[in-house]
Parts: sequence; structure tokens; C-alpha cells
Amino acid sequence: MKVFVIGISGAVGGLLAEELTGRGDVVSGLVRRDDQRAALASRHIEARVGDIGVMTADQLVPLLSGFDAVVYSAGSNGGSRAVTDAVDGEGVVRTLEAAGRAGVTRFVLVSVLPEAGRELHLDDDHEHYFAVKKLTDVAVSLSDLDWLVLRPSMLVDRPGTGRVALGPAQPHDEIPREDVAATLAELLHEPRIRRQVLELNAGETPTALAVRARIR
Ligand SMILES: NC(=O)c1ccc[n+]([C@@H]2O[C@H](COP(=O)([O-])OP(=O)(O)OC[C@H]3O[C@@H](n4cnc5c(N)ncnc54)[C@H](OP(=O)(O)O)[C@@H]3O)[C@@H](O)[C@H]2O)c1
Repeated sequence: MKVFVIGISGAVGGLLAEELTGRGDVVSGLVRRDDQRAALASRHIEARVGDIGVMTADQLVPLLSGFDAVVYSAGSNGGSRAVTDAVDGEGVVRTLEAAGRAGVTRFVLVSVLPEAGRELHLDDDHEHYFAVKKLTDVAVSLSDLDWLVLRPSMLVDRPGTGRVALGPAQPHDEIPREDVAATLAELLHEPRIRRQVLELNAGETPTALAVRARIR
């Protein structure tokens, strides 16, 4: 399988690239800087340089052509409203459009649980971030592609456990990034799971079984 990862220099994107290459998949992705591209090249991953906040669908189409799936794991993580709008909102919509035009059928968005951080009395920029994330999930869910929206709980850097809780609704808790990457890889390899919004937490079910249980 050939997978293009937007946000491949990020924590989840990098772990996903590792998971997929370990399975024999061909992985590429978008980075913002040339040194990131060079670092990935040393791992035999060919990346392209660009800023997803400003790239047009026309510019993205040739990058995505020939891939089986696009994973969008880039995010502002709650920066200024303008950056959130560009990266967590418009960037996703333009990538979705470009994927369709490039003939890529599978589009996986790494999103967030809408109620994440509600108890923390977030500032306006973070409130805006969660509102944009939710609206972007809506836009993806209206696509004709074989889309998936994965909403992980709060990401932590503990080692993965290989066990998760995955379903249409999960409480907001924590999940190791390694388990998110493993779940994404498993979902990408299961074409029968499509057009679903799935929430993901640390849990007790082995990842492959948790994913298989979502086939319908
Ligand atoms: N933090 C949480 O607890 C949490 C919880 C649930 C879901 N999420 C979602 O999970 C996603 C992945 O998390 P993570 O830990 O992997 O985040 P991360 O390490 O901050 O990675 C974010 C990625 O987005 C890229 N990016 C940001 N702006 C970009 C732009 N304008 N053009 C191109 N690339 C850009 C970053 O590139 P650079 O390397 O150049 O910065 C990086 O590769 C987040 O984006 C968020 O949507 C986060």
C-alpha cells in the first residue's frame, strides 16, 4: 500500500510512518523544512516540502497522485485562530479535495474528541480549535471518499501497550501515541472500515481485534 502522510514530521505521523514501513508499505509525506525531508530520506522515506496551511488543491494533486491513502495528522495543537483555521480547517478540506481529484480513495483524518479539555476552562484560542476540529470532521464525513475520522484521547508519550478501546463513542482519557499509530496502520489495512467516526482510548482489547470489531 502507498500512503501519503500530512504531518509526517510530527509525533504520530512519524510513528505511523515507522509502523507502515515495517509492514512493507511505501510511505511519503509533507514536511515544512528541507532538513526534515533529509532526515526522512535517511530512513528511505521520500518526503515533499510544503506548508499545508497555504497549499492549494492544485498544488497538492500531483503530490497525492498514485497513492492509495492519505492520512492527515497535521495540526496546530491550539495555536492562534488564523493558524488553526489554516491547518486544522482549510488545509484538511483542500487535501480532501485534492485526494479526490488525484484518484486517492482513502482519506484518514486524525482528529480529536470534541469534549477534550472541557474541564480545563480553555482559553478562546483552544475553544476555537475544538470548534474547528468538529466542523472539519463534519466536512470529511460529507465526502464521497472512503473516509475515516479517528479521534484519539489526550496523546501521551508512554510506550504503547498494544491494547486499545475503539468505538463510535469513548470517554476522554489518555492514549499513547504509539498505540494511535498502530491503530491507524491497522485501520488503513482494513478497507471494510470506511465512513466511520471512531474514538480511541487506552483499553484492554488487542489493537487488531479492536479494529476488526469495527467492520460492518
Ligand atoms: N495533543 C493531543 O493530546 C491530541 C489529542 C487528540 C488528537 N490530536 C491530534 O493529533 C494530531 C497529531 O498529534 P502529534 O502529537 O503528532 O502532533 P505534532 O507532533 O505537533 O505534529 C503535528 C504535525 O503537523 C505538522 N504541521 C503543522 N502545521 C503545518 C503546516 N502549516 N504545514 C505542514 N505541516 C504542518 C507539523 O510539522 P512541523 O514538524 O514542521 O511542526 C507536524 O508534523 C494533532 O495534529 C491533533 O490534530 C492531538
